[in-house]
Amino acid sequence: MTIKHGGNIYEVAKKYGISEGEIIDFSANINPLGIPNKLKATIISNIEALKNYPDPDYKDLVTAIAKYNNIDEDFVIPGNGATEIIFKIVEAIKPKKSLLLAPTFLEYERALKNVQSDVIYYLLNESNGFNIDKNDLLEKLEDDIDLVVLCNPNNPTGQIIEKDTLVEILIECKNKGISLMIDEAFIEFVDKEEEHSLIRCLADFDNLFIIRALTKFFAIPGLRIGYGLLSNKNIKKRIINKKEPWTINGFAAICGDVLFEDYEYIKKSKEFFRVERENMYSELKKLRGLKVFKPHANYIFFKVLEENIDLKDRLICRKILIRKCDNYVNLSNSFYRVAIKDKESNAELIKAIREVLYED
Ligand SMILES: Cc1ncc(COP(=O)(O)O)c(C=O)c1O
Repeated sequence: MTIKHGGNIYEVAKKYGISEGEIIDFSANINPLGIPNKLKATIISNIEALKNYPDPDYKDLVTAIAKYNNIDEDFVIPGNGATEIIFKIVEAIKPKKSLLLAPTFLEYERALKNVQSDVIYYLLNESNGFNIDKNDLLEKLEDDIDLVVLCNPNNPTGQIIEKDTLVEILIECKNKGISLMIDEAFIEFVDKEEEHSLIRCLADFDNLFIIRALTKFFAIPGLRIGYGLLSNKNIKKRIINKKEPWTINGFAAICGDVLFEDYEYIKKSKEFFRVERENMYSELKKLRGLKVFKPHANYIFFKVLEENIDLKDRLICRKILIRKCDNYVNLSNSFYRVAIKDKESNAELIKAIREVLYED
C-alpha cells in the first residue's frame, strides 16, 4: 500500500506504543451505530456458508442491490468494496486522459495511473468553500478528455454538487464523448439523498458510471462489499470478462437483503446524522483558530488557521486519531478531517481540540 488512508489504527498503535482498543478513531468515516445486529445474526447463523464457494454471479446480491435502488438488475456490478469497482471501471474504460477533482479520494488517481492515464486536476478553491464552479468546470471539459471523476459528497471536503449542475456536466460529457464516473460512497448520509444521486439518469446515459459503497453507512469496512451501476453494456461486458471469480466473500454475498431491508437501522442512522452533524459542526465552529467547512456527510473538514500546529500529533497523545489531509493534491498540512462518531466521543474530541489548541 503506497497511499495513506484514514483508519490505519494498527500503524498508529504500533508507532505510539498504545493498544488499538484505546484509540478513539476519528480518521475513518464509519457509521458509529456499528454493525447492524441483523447482519451479525445472519453471519453467525450462516457460518457454514464458508465451506462453499459463493455464487460466482452473486445473483441474490445483484437482485438485492437492484431492488434497493429501484433499478434494472442489468445495471448492477457487485464488488469487493467500492474500491474494486473503481479500479475495474477505470481498467475497462482505459482513459488516455482524465480529469480529477483536487482534493478528492486518493484511489482514483492510483487506478488511473495503473492504466497510464494522463491525469489533470480541477483545483477546488478554499475561497469558494471547496465547491466546484460549474462554468469553470464545464470550460475544462475539453474533447481530448476521456474520463471525468467526481465524488459526491466529496471526500475529504464533504461538499456536495447540486443535481442540476451534475446533470449539466453529464450532458456536456455525453456530447463530448467523455465518460463520467461519480462516486456516491457517502450519498446515504446526505439529507434527501434522492435529490443528489444521479441514479435516475442511468438509463438515459451510457457514459455514466456510479460507484456505491456499503462500508461507510453500514459500518462494515472489514466485510468488503460495494457496487457499481452502469447502463453501458460494452463496458459491463469488458469488466465481467476480465474480473477474477469470487472476489466477494460468501458472507457479503448473502447480506444484501439483510442490510438493505434493515429499515430501522437506515432510519435511525439518517436521523442520527441529521442531528449530530449540525451539533458537531456548530461546536467545531465555536473553536477559535479553526475554519470549518459545512459538512454534508458523516465527516467534517476543517483548517487549523495557525501554521506549525500539528493537531494530529497533539491529539494522538490523548489517544485520539484524526485524519491529517497533507497527502491530498491541493491541500496543505493545515487541513484535517474528522468522522462524526457517537455523541460522547464527539464531545471528547471537541474538548481535546480546545485543550490542545488553547491550553497546551
Ligand atoms: C469516496 C470513497 N469511495 C470509495 C471508498 C472505498 O470504499 P470501500 O470500502 O467500499 O472500498 C472510500 C473509502 O474511504 C471513499 O472515501
